Amino acid sequence: MEMVKAVNLKKYYITDTYEVHALDGVSLSAQDGEFLAIVGTSGSGKTTLLNLLGGLDVPTSGGVWIRGNSLKDMDKEERTIFRRRNIGFVFQQYNLVPVLSVYENIVLPLRLDGAEIDGEFLEEIVSLLGLDDKLERLPETLSGGQQQRAAIARALLVKPAILLCDEPTGNLDSVTGMEVTGLLKSCSQRFHQTVLVVTHQEEVAQAADRIVRLEDGRICGDSGGHDSAHSDGNSVGHNGGHNGGHNGGDSDGHSVGHSMDMPGKEQVL
Ligand SMILES: Nc1ncnc2c1ncn2[C@@H]1O[C@H](COP(=O)(O)OP(=O)(O)O)[C@@H](O)[C@H]1O
Ligand SMILES: [Mg+2]
Repeated sequence: MEMVKAVNLKKYYITDTYEVHALDGVSLSAQDGEFLAIVGTSGSGKTTLLNLLGGLDVPTSGGVWIRGNSLKDMDKEERTIFRRRNIGFVFQQYNLVPVLSVYENIVLPLRLDGAEIDGEFLEEIVSLLGLDDKLERLPETLSGGQQQRAAIARALLVKPAILLCDEPTGNLDSVTGMEVTGLLKSCSQRFHQTVLVVTHQEEVAQAADRIVRLEDGRICGDSGGHDSAHSDGNSVGHNGGHNGGHNGGDSDGHSVGHSMDMPGKEQVL
């Protein structure tokens, strides 16, 4: 089942003094249960792509469909509600609310939505992520890896169709980073979710089912595109792309702080 589809996405930032083509015609489709890595050097458009796929930002042109629902056919409020119910986000900086316990953080999106908490599912996630004895703790008393697990639990609890992760292991040591990557992978299999992970760490990318490479706002490689990797909509089929190319260091670390707001973007929750 096609969970996410992007068609000819463009995001241009134009002012009097500069014109940046952050994304310049990206088409991409991903199925349920697929675990995709998006790689590329700093400034290649990875965060922009994730923000557009998640409806946190609107494209200059082109469209995004999540489970067949077009994001641009929704007004801002509809999009916020749709996002809360269908899309999970995990950021490099965890974005946990510091004054809330781990438990309160995890259930926050459901509370905001006035939705029931599925206790059994919550237990399953908490145990999968090894957070059983951390639920009453405040985020700052946890290690980075534990905080990231809490952020993943929060994203998973709403049973999102897709999970969008922007450098989720960027603040973690490599062992913890691979552990978190493994957890994201098992979540995609277990819950049939589409998981997209932006990363500049090659070992994280190698754990994915499919690697999409971005360069200058365009897809320059796709190890297993189901759909098009070109802006013209022609299919490249399986293994139509390549896995080559180097992957320079990306240390941009787009900080979104500890608030749930994305500056200049729509609210995450
Ligand atoms: N709000 C903005 N205004 C102007 N340029 C931007 C803005 N956001 C991102 N960009 C530019 O778009 C390009 C892609 O950025 P980004 O998606 O953050 O890249 P990545 O996540 O791959 O490092 C970069 O050149 C960046 O400077
Ligand atoms: Mg980025």
